[in-house]
Amino acid sequence: MRKQLRRADEKLRTALVTGACSGIGRAFALRLGSLGYELVLVSNRPTELAATAREISAAHPVMVHTIVSDLARPEAAEEVYREVRDMGLEVGILVSNAGFFFFGEAVDALPGRANAMLQLHVVTPSLLCACFGRDMRVHGRGHILIVSSISAWRDFPGISYYGASKKYLRGFARALRSELGVYGVNVTCLAPGPTATNLYDIDVVPVERAKRLGIMMDPATVAEAGLRAMFAGRAEHIPGWLARAMACLSVLVPQWAIDLLRRHAPWLPKRGGAG
Ligand SMILES: NC(=O)c1ccc[n+]([C@@H]2O[C@H](COP(=O)([O-])OP(=O)(O)OC[C@H]3O[C@@H](n4cnc5c(N)ncnc54)[C@H](OP(=O)(O)O)[C@@H]3O)[C@@H](O)[C@H]2O)c1
Repeated sequence: MRKQLRRADEKLRTALVTGACSGIGRAFALRLGSLGYELVLVSNRPTELAATAREISAAHPVMVHTIVSDLARPEAAEEVYREVRDMGLEVGILVSNAGFFFFGEAVDALPGRANAMLQLHVVTPSLLCACFGRDMRVHGRGHILIVSSISAWRDFPGISYYGASKKYLRGFARALRSELGVYGVNVTCLAPGPTATNLYDIDVVPVERAKRLGIMMDPATVAEAGLRAMFAGRAEHIPGWLARAMACLSVLVPQWAIDLLRRHAPWLPKRGGAG
């Protein structure tokens, strides 16, 4: 039987989760709340964020703070950090999870959309890790969980910004782990495979069917696996055997096969088809 997930060091009392009002982030928040952590939830939709906070407070006797912030802005990380500091909280667990996804050729992506993805997946997570990681280093304790993706394992056409930014996160997490590990701070990279969340446009991706068929994982299962890996101090974790197999296979596929598929597969984005 698997061991119950337990709180880490009792001195770590507060967890901050970005992108906490839906999908995997919401599942992280619910699970951390159930473990008794005081929560700081960050997202850009005030109504949904408030609803998530109410739901967690009703279910578990923990304080839940919310910060409404569009994390795709250059100044977002500094602002969030200042707001948390003004609340007088020491963040012991940082879960950098917020993200979004679109299909399309890089040259067709609207500049604002491409810019938002790079800010949200590269700049903001890095600066949040720097701000909160600095404090964790001073205290000599803490956990940082960075959500990447199995798309970091190989470069695929149609998801150039998404894949490359997730690859950045994977590399950043490894280097940060090395830097902060010396001070007693753990950094873990979580790389989910397909997960049934709002990340996908349900008109294009049959999320519920994929979940029923076992192709997509449940966000709660992914979050549980991520927290387990983080508390165990693991460097990297891909939840689920199918996602692990997909990551391994993607490394083995020769580039000519990917290029051939790109040329002939009807479901891959065509010129002008990006958002
Ligand atoms: N689902 C998958 O198959 C899969 C696979 C691998 C990796 N991942 C990664 O897992 C993470 C969570 O995604 P998910 O699948 O749970 O999708 P999701 O349900 O769409 O959740 C994404 C979260 O990020 C937040 N977010 C998006 N843009 C934001 C912004 N500009 N500022 C602040 N928050 C923002 C969203 O808030 P709003 O809803 O308010 O915009 C939402 O709470 C992402 O980093 C994603 O890349 C997902």
